[in-house]
Amino acid sequence: MVDVVRTQRLVLRPLAASDADRVHTLFNNWNVIRRLSSPPWPYTFEDARSFVGHKTKNARNLTKTGYAITRDGVLIGGTDIRVSDSEPHHRSPILGFWLGEDYWGQGYMSESARGFLAHVFNAGVGDVICSGASADNAASLRVQEKLGFVREGETMMFAKPRGGEFPHINTVLTRASFKATAA
Ligand SMILES: CC(C)(COP(=O)(O)OP(=O)(O)OC[C@H]1O[C@@H](n2cnc3c(N)ncnc32)[C@H](O)[C@@H]1OP(=O)(O)O)[C@@H](O)C(=O)NCCC(=O)NCCS
Repeated sequence: MVDVVRTQRLVLRPLAASDADRVHTLFNNWNVIRRLSSPPWPYTFEDARSFVGHKTKNARNLTKTGYAITRDGVLIGGTDIRVSDSEPHHRSPILGFWLGEDYWGQGYMSESARGFLAHVFNAGVGDVICSGASADNAASLRVQEKLGFVREGETMMFAKPRGGEFPHINTVLTRASFKATAA
């Protein structure tokens, strides 16, 4: 089920082809990209167009599409819940998220992810969600901890933008632990 998700300050909606320009503007930033495993660097407009195109092509499939995180109608970041064959260490759908740097430190991702995960669990994607972060990504790990994710172990993961393998902390969230943190 693909739908619009509303939180106190944010609206999450499926990405649209017209978002490519804004995604490029916010994503073409080393401080954002260096934390991620798969985007290329440098990040061109064509990369953004292709990423958004792939997500919109799968707009009706929650575990293949992508969401724009918007505030007052302006795209400030993105999130998704994906099922991946190329990430075998994740046995369940994987939560991903990012925000443009100007929007960090204001509680937006905690708010966005709480609303999005409630939607994902309601949609029947399963009872377990995986995520994780580069071991030096304290902000992401803190967001996950607040949502009820627990650490499952550390692996080395290839980070394409940084061009090498780096320690990665794998995390897992159950429906029950998510519910407990919402109480
Ligand atoms: C990770 C990211 C999404 C966080 O978004 P955000 O909106 O700033 O997060 P929030 O404000 O909701 O929460 C951040 C939490 O981390 C904490 N934090 C931030 N930097 C920290 C640091 N260096 N060390 C420890 N904690 C830190 C904040 O204090 C806050 O915790 P609190 O609510 O208990 O005070 C954002 O920094 C980002 O997009 N980074 C680049 C892309 C990325 O890393 N994506 C995730 C890949 S796994």
